[in-house]
Amino acid sequence: MSTSIISVRNVHKWYSGVHALKGVSLDFAPNEAVGLIGDNGAGKSTLINILSGAQPASEGEIMLEGKPVKINSPRDAMDLGIETIYQYNSMVPTMSISRNLFIGREPLKYSMFGLGVMDRKKMAEESVQAIAGAGLHLRSPDALVGELSGGQRQGVAIARAMHFKSKVMILDEPTNHLAVKETQKVIGFVRSLKELGITGIFISHNIHHVFECCDRIVAMARGEVVLDKRTEDTNMKEILDVL
Ligand SMILES: Nc1ncnc2c1ncn2[C@@H]1O[C@H](COP(=O)(O)OP(=O)(O)O)[C@@H](O)[C@H]1O
Ligand SMILES: [Mg+2]
Repeated sequence: MSTSIISVRNVHKWYSGVHALKGVSLDFAPNEAVGLIGDNGAGKSTLINILSGAQPASEGEIMLEGKPVKINSPRDAMDLGIETIYQYNSMVPTMSISRNLFIGREPLKYSMFGLGVMDRKKMAEESVQAIAGAGLHLRSPDALVGELSGGQRQGVAIARAMHFKSKVMILDEPTNHLAVKETQKVIGFVRSLKELGITGIFISHNIHHVFECCDRIVAMARGEVVLDKRTEDTNMKEILDVL
């Protein structure tokens, strides 16, 4: 238990009348790629929203490396090393790749009036490194994110997680609306997180995608965990039967 990077303990979530999470407990190990699957409404995004600080749990506890933590905002999650990539990307299309990489964490230099000014030179230099480090081939860190393909945007988000040395990277349906080739790229990214020592939580309703890149599969249905197995110890049929 002490080796878990994140532990979720008996977490409940009520949305007025809806009991969206009914006592979920899960452990995520360092360096593990976990696929979280389930039908629409199973509670996957609700769980992830709690881990990423987008909304609070109604009840239960979250522990990071064995210590109880309060995740009250997306900023708290980022500071704890939890990075989340949403279905509809969190990037700002009208801003450059380098601005997007540093969004909310811009390095500052100081002007003579003592006001913080963004250190654009540092941002540009570090962006080039971060992008290359993520194995992305992009023209320039000054290109606008709006000009990138969906897969390239996911790549920038992954470069951001790597640059800020996130411990956990959550991807909520990152392959929705992506072309086949781009989807394969995202699946490759999930696989590569392992080598970087980052725990990946990959949410998808496509079982095939999860089988391709995850070490472990957690299935949720109606607000509960209904299956939790190593990928090699389960199969599509077993999972479809519990959903
Ligand atoms: N903001 C919300 N307000 C009210 N109900 C919600 C809200 N978000 C999710 N729900 C409900 O909670 C349940 C789980 O939803 P969700 O976590 O989005 O599932 P999934 O991501 O697995 O599709 C569903 O019944 C959904 O309608
Ligand atoms: Mg969802």
